[in-house]
Amino acid sequence: MACGGNVVFDLGTPDLDAQLRLVLAGAGLDQVTVPAQDPARVALGQALMFDRLLGGNKDIACATCHHPRFQTGDGLSLPIGTGGAGLGPGRLLGVGKSFIPRNANPVFSLGAAEVMFWDGRVRGNAAQGLETPAGAQLPPGLTSALAAQAMFPVTSRDEMRGQAGDRAVDGSTNEIAAVADDDLVAIWEALAARLRANPEYLRLFQAAYPDLQPAQIGFQHAANAIAAFEIDQLTRLDSPFDRYLAGDNGALSDAQKRGALLFYGRARCAECHRGGLLSDFEFHNVGAPQVGPGRGAGAPLDLGLAERTGAAADRFRFRTAPLRNVARTGPWMHSGGYTTLEGAVRHFGEPALALESYDREQLDPRLRDQVHNAEAVAAGLLDNLDPVLARPNPLSDAEVQEVVAFLVALSDPRGPPEPPATVPSGLPVD
Ligand code: HEC
Ligand code: HEC
Repeated sequence: MACGGNVVFDLGTPDLDAQLRLVLAGAGLDQVTVPAQDPARVALGQALMFDRLLGGNKDIACATCHHPRFQTGDGLSLPIGTGGAGLGPGRLLGVGKSFIPRNANPVFSLGAAEVMFWDGRVRGNAAQGLETPAGAQLPPGLTSALAAQAMFPVTSRDEMRGQAGDRAVDGSTNEIAAVADDDLVAIWEALAARLRANPEYLRLFQAAYPDLQPAQIGFQHAANAIAAFEIDQLTRLDSPFDRYLAGDNGALSDAQKRGALLFYGRARCAECHRGGLLSDFEFHNVGAPQVGPGRGAGAPLDLGLAERTGAAADRFRFRTAPLRNVARTGPWMHSGGYTTLEGAVRHFGEPALALESYDREQLDPRLRDQVHNAEAVAAGLLDNLDPVLARPNPLSDAEVQEVVAFLVALSDPRGPPEPPATVPSGLPVD
């Protein structure tokens, strides 16, 4: 068999491989690369990601909604913000609180992505400029769209900041929540002041930014460090699919190969899920289920991109979800409306039928009376469906299973790193 001690790849099924390699060669699967990160910034970023000190009421950290135990998500269809208690699917809503309107994205492999959030409201790059809801208030020096993203959860009253008049869990006044909603600069400054007042953070910032005087530490430096942590510790681009692309025919099962042929062929998935992260980072209306309190003027519906642009043509359009590690990061869609990957995949064959036969029993009981598919259809959800999906193209049960098998092959075997044992504030770590 092997000669000269060379690694011999499994030969696979020659016809299937010949066919698939031909398809993949034309699929524009660019290699995704991310820059190396400074270890001192990574260490600071990890502390910040897990520290409830960033929550106005000191009761919620980024990691509460993006936790390693739930593959950088929260395992919920829709998240529960400040005032809540517990972690994961069992997390409890605070008194008088609602679910956050959209599913918490996973945070894997986003270092090279230039469009953040389900509606792309943070986008761009450091060289050409970043566009965010902060406009001119955004401080200079943010290193990436991922870093700019980290400026925003802390400003959201429902997610992390809290309501004016709230008291933090330690009995102190919530000074972050006292700031007016539109004064983002003051919100970030109040957070930076909290961090500067902590000797352990001062030490970590000094190590990460040796050129900064303590008084110069701003929240943008925290955001850059959080991005450094996310890039260094959560980039996961070594899946069976990558090994197959690198030449190992044995890296995928036959079912996964047939699933890939469907994905890049008849099932039309790659019309939108293109490139190394399996997203075109464009916006499409795929008619996904509408669940939850809704957002902005469209509530209880979520109009997606249209809420940001105001354009009728953008109604119900959302960013194409990147699919790296997707088999692990359910529930799926902007609404978390599907709690099985089969359900999410089947949806794309025939969105209208999927909505009509939508099973609300799959949801957390607390969300079952917040399904708005019928209202959304009445409001035009299926009228500006993406042209690729306008014609039904149903997949058989066996084909759905094969596509799911292919999606499983996009998972990197390495999970996220464990949480730190403690954080500088001394607050409990989830
Ligand atoms: C209450 C839960 C919650 C908390 C706390 C939270 N997030 Fe999120 N996160 C979300 C939700 C929900 C979204 C999607 C929102 C949207 O698209 O409108 C999101 C989106 C993101 C994204 C975008 C990923 C992508 O694919 O575009 C990143 C990155 C992220 N969060 C990181 C963070 C960081 C860093 C913090 C702390 C500074 C944080 N999150 C705090 C719920 C949360
Ligand atoms: C017309 C563009 C388009 C096509 C075609 C398409 N998708 Fe998507 N996909 C999207 C968009 C946009 C979203 C996010 C939609 C939302 O949540 O409202 C998405 C979401 C998903 C999700 C959920 C990801 C997550 O993290 O929640 C999965 C899984 C998925 N697509 C798989 C597929 C598969 C498999 C196919 C082919 C059968 C397919 N898609 C075809 C655009 C498309």
